Amino acid sequence: MKKPFIAGNWKMNLCLKDAITLAETIKTKTENVSNVDIGICPSFVFLGDIAKVVKGSNIRLGSQNMHSKESGAYTGEVSGQMIKDIGCSHVIIGHSERRHVFGETDEFINKKLKSAFSFQLAPIFCVGETLEERGHGKTTDIIDNQLREGLRDINYENIKTLTIAYEPVWAIGTGKSASPEQANEVHTFIRKFITKEYGEEIAEGMVIQYGGSVKPDNINDLLLQTDIDGALTGGASLESESFLKIIEIADKITAVKEVY
Ligand code: PGA
Repeated sequence: MKKPFIAGNWKMNLCLKDAITLAETIKTKTENVSNVDIGICPSFVFLGDIAKVVKGSNIRLGSQNMHSKESGAYTGEVSGQMIKDIGCSHVIIGHSERRHVFGETDEFINKKLKSAFSFQLAPIFCVGETLEERGHGKTTDIIDNQLREGLRDINYENIKTLTIAYEPVWAIGTGKSASPEQANEVHTFIRKFITKEYGEEIAEGMVIQYGGSVKPDNINDLLLQTDIDGALTGGASLESESFLKIIEIADKITAVKEVY
C-alpha cells in the first residue's frame, strides 16, 4: 500500500514571518504522522528559510516552478540546480497557472521535467482540463496529450520518482471540487496511460494526487477512491488547521484502505 502524499502549494502567498510559523506548526504537529508523505511548496524566496525549519523532519520541501536551463542569461528565472542546492527534493511542474497565466507549453514542461530529473528532483507534474474542454467532452484527449507531450522521452528510471497531480482547472481556487467519482475516472485514465507506456509496476507504484478545492470535508471521499493517492492543496494549505486536518484524515484513510 502506498502512502498518500499530501502537498501544499502556497502559491504567491504569505509573508516570511507567517511562512516560517506555518512551516514550524506543520513540522511540530506532524512529528508522529507516519502513514502520510507531507510536502510544502513555498515561494522561491522563502525556500532557504523554510529549508532550515523542516531540516531533519519528514516534511518534503518543493518549489512551485523551475526553469529548464541549467544556467545562463534568463533574468528572473531559477534553475533546478539552485532549488536543489537550497534543499528542495520536489518541484511542481506544469501547474495550470503556469500553463494558462504564463503561457507554458507542453514542450517547455517536458524540458523542465527532464531538467528536474537531471538534478535528482522529484517532480509533481500537473495535468488538467478547462471547463470548456470538459464541456466539449475532451477531457481525456486533453489529459492524454498533456501526458504524452509532457513525458516525451522520459525514461523508465526517471519516471519512478514522478508524482502526477490531476488538477481540473475549473476546480482550482473555485471551491468547486470535482466529485470523487469524476476525479477518479481521470485518475484511472492516467494510471492506464502510465501502464501502457511504462508497465504495471511503475503505474501501480505511482502516486497520482488530486488537486482543486481539496478541503478537510472532501479529502476523505477523494482518498477512498481506487486511484486517488494524495492531494495537491492550495488554499487549504495556507492555514495550519485545515492542512493538518487533511493530513490527519489521510493518515486514518491509509489504515482503512489497507483492509481492502
Ligand atoms: P486550490 O489549489 O486547492 O486552492 O484549489 C490547488 C492547486 O492549484 O494546486
